[in-house]
Amino acid sequence: MKEREILIRFKEFKPEELNPTDKNLVDIAVESAGNAYAPYSHFRVGAAVLLSNGTVVRGSNQENAAYPSGLCAERVAMFYANANYPDSSVEAIAVVVINPQGHVIDENISPCGSCRQVMAETEMRFKKPIRVLLASSASVLVFNSIEDLLPLSFNQGDLDMSE
Ligand code: THU
Repeated sequence: MKEREILIRFKEFKPEELNPTDKNLVDIAVESAGNAYAPYSHFRVGAAVLLSNGTVVRGSNQENAAYPSGLCAERVAMFYANANYPDSSVEAIAVVVINPQGHVIDENISPCGSCRQVMAETEMRFKKPIRVLLASSASVLVFNSIEDLLPLSFNQGDLDMSE
């Protein structure tokens, strides 16, 4: 038996320490959260995706009376980006939650497993690490790659194993 470990490194910034590009991405994620359609959970999430062509794509969670038909903010933004800009890699994604007053909450949201899986697919597709910015009113956690949020992910390479 061997015990092995995985080390995950990320940076924690105060909001005012962010560089202008990252600050802009977080600000757009906050704006996007205002467009969430969350009448069931009242949990309003915003995402902003920065593409290699400089475009910023917005996403917010979109719920449905048939609950599983809804989609998280991150996947709304990632799928829109890949559907409309299939030749542009994704450089970064910022994610935030706002309260009923429209202010960013003081917790850093952690993307769900399905959103991590979709981000991992996009990272592999473009062979370009995606920076992930998880913002709260108090701090912004910055991960350099989805690999840090989803280690040991299932991916295309695993499918090839059965052939
Ligand atoms: N949600 C997101 O949009 N992103 C996440 O990372 C976690 C959860 C949404 C899905 C649902 O509309 C609501 O938040 C409550 O789970």
